[in-house]
Amino acid sequence: MALTGLFLCSFLVVHLIGNLPLLSGDKEAFNGYAHFMTTFPLIKIVSYLLYGSIVLHSIDGILLTRKNKAARETDYVKYNGKANASWSSRNMAILGTLTLVFLIIHMKSFWYEMHFGSVPTYISEEGVELKDLYTITVAAFQELWYALFYVISMMGLGFHLWHGFASSFQTLGLSHSKYTPIIEIFGKSFSVIVSLAFASIPIYLLLS
Ligand code: HEM
Repeated sequence: MALTGLFLCSFLVVHLIGNLPLLSGDKEAFNGYAHFMTTFPLIKIVSYLLYGSIVLHSIDGILLTRKNKAARETDYVKYNGKANASWSSRNMAILGTLTLVFLIIHMKSFWYEMHFGSVPTYISEEGVELKDLYTITVAAFQELWYALFYVISMMGLGFHLWHGFASSFQTLGLSHSKYTPIIEIFGKSFSVIVSLAFASIPIYLLLS
């Protein structure tokens, strides 16, 4: 779970950077990024690693939740749960499930359209035939309910990362009195910055 989780975190950074042209209206940069991600041979291999990591991370999560539940005959005492663990650490399974549901809907909207749909094409300034995913993405976020769904999902993702990032280092046995607090601060900052930055895209496109 820790290795696939950290790999997925690194994907989030690349994906966020690739999506930033949506905030500056740079159609060529955005469509160029999508084209590169779907056609460059090395990236294609990394994409298969990514799909495998999503599946493995989800299956591991389900197995771990079931194992944890089976290890106790009675539930944890519900009151004052925060005395022992943060809200996000006690709700990792539900937050992970929400993120997975988001991902399925998200990939159906964009990834499926890009690979198997009929996205209109045009010839870019560099003379390359590009699929115009930019226009489809901008149009999708003009819908209030769709933009809202993204913002709520990004909150779920943010809380999932809030605990998950630092926890993955602990799982890997990388625990150190000096470095663990730094990793925790980094993980929390990462979760806030990444989720707010992703959420800003639908908000910006909805309001512009
Ligand atoms: C406003 C936020 C987001 C936008 C506008 C966006 C947009 C897109 C688009 C246009 C694609 C298809 C083209 C491509 O493969 O690059 C895509 C693919 C994908 N997105 Fe997003 N995305 C967003 C957030 C996220 C988040 C938060 C996650 C993960 C939790 C995610 C996971 C993925 C995955 C796994 C793919 C398939 C990548 C591949 O095939 O290599 N996206 N996204």
